Formats: sequence, C-alpha cells, structure tokens
Amino acid sequence: MERLQKILARAGFGSRRKAERLIKQGLVTVNGEVAEIGSKADIKKDDIRVKGKKIAEETLVYYLLHKPEGYICTVSDPFDRPKVVDLLPKEPRVFPIGRLDSDTTGVLLLTNDGELTNFLLHPRYEVSKTYLAKVKGIPNKKALDALGEGLILDDGPTQPAKVQVLKRGQDSALVSLTIAEGRKRQVKRMLAAVGHEVISLHRTKFGPIDLGKLEKGCYRELTKQEVEMLRECQKEC
Ligand code: URA
Repeated sequence: MERLQKILARAGFGSRRKAERLIKQGLVTVNGEVAEIGSKADIKKDDIRVKGKKIAEETLVYYLLHKPEGYICTVSDPFDRPKVVDLLPKEPRVFPIGRLDSDTTGVLLLTNDGELTNFLLHPRYEVSKTYLAKVKGIPNKKALDALGEGLILDDGPTQPAKVQVLKRGQDSALVSLTIAEGRKRQVKRMLAAVGHEVISLHRTKFGPIDLGKLEKGCYRELTKQEVEMLRECQKEC
C-alpha cells in the first residue's frame, strides 16, 4: 500500500502537489470511493481512477535533451510557439525538470517521474547547475567576488555561486557559473546585477548529468546509473 499522491505522481500526473490538488478536488476515486489526502492504495490491486479514467502503472522515462534556442519549456502555449516536448516522443508524456528561458541552450532533463521532479526542484535539495554565459564586458575581481559571495536580487539574496572567467575577449567574456538555486532568469539577473548583460546562455550540467557530446536538438535516455545518481542528489548534490 502506498500513499495515493505518490502513486499518482508516478503514474504521470505531475508533482505530488499537483496530485494532491486532484485529490482535494475530489477527482480521484479508489474502488469507487472518493479519495482523501493521505488515502493509501495498491496500484496492482485497487481500481484507482482520475476523473473516472482508470490509471495504470506507467513506465517511467528519463531524457536528457540538448535544448536549442527558440524552444519554450511550458507544455502548452496559447501562442503555439515551438516547445521542448515537441522534440521528444509523444508517449509517455514527459515534463521538463525546471525551466530554461527560450533563448537558453543546453542540458534539460525531462521525465514523467513526478516524484523525482518534485524533489529535484525542492529548494531544500536544489541540485547544482552549471552555466556558460557569454557576457558583455570583462568581469573584474569585485564582480566575481560579489557573485561568489552572493548578492541581492529583487526577489532576495542569492547563495554563493562558483564563478570563473574562462575566456577574455576584447569586449566580452565567457563565464562559468555554478548555482544551486533555480529562480526565474537567475543567472542573467545575477550577471546583470554586477553590470554584465548576458549575450548567450548555455547550461552544461544539471547535478551529475553532463551534456557531453549530445548535439543541439537531440535527446537520449538517461542510463539507470544516471537516474540513480539523480536520486542520490537528495543526499549529496
Ligand atoms: N538562468 C537564466 O537566467 N536563464 C535560464 O534559462 C536559466 C538560468
């Protein structure tokens, strides 16, 4: 027997919070009875339905996508812009683990494992992510120290980042930035706060998952070992 919200999250209904909402709305039944938060069930034996439709144990899939620019991470869009999910198999339906801006490229993980998504996005476990940012100007020591120590953004202070200038051009630089948070447009805002507009942004790593040689617009399934490493992030990343 398992908690219903856990079963629903695993069956592809999104995060546990989303599953809880379905239960609270009275849309979930177990053997004909309307379920409550905290109800337990066994997916193999019980008849569990969401909006009257029987749910089945779904095969969990985990993808690494090299997100190209111009694709959005929301799964439905009133403006019909290109979506990252268009680049992956239609079934089973997957959701991105967090978001990248439309003009950001690089590592994006997608899965139908709501439970793993939930924990990887939980502020308590926020895993580290590494970005390469091409910025206007050359960051000086003061700017790098501010990023490294943490700075104040309009939605609060940032945690210390790992930061390094990898290349200095004439009027631009390539900066590597590793942060363990995932606030909206965080990297761009952090760099803007120290006077450097981001020209392009690319994520090379999410927790232990590295982009490697995966081509832009392509995806691959994560190996069992990689999925295990992501689960282990609860303890380590
Ligand atoms: N930070 C940003 O500013 N944009 C992204 O897409 C990801 C992190």
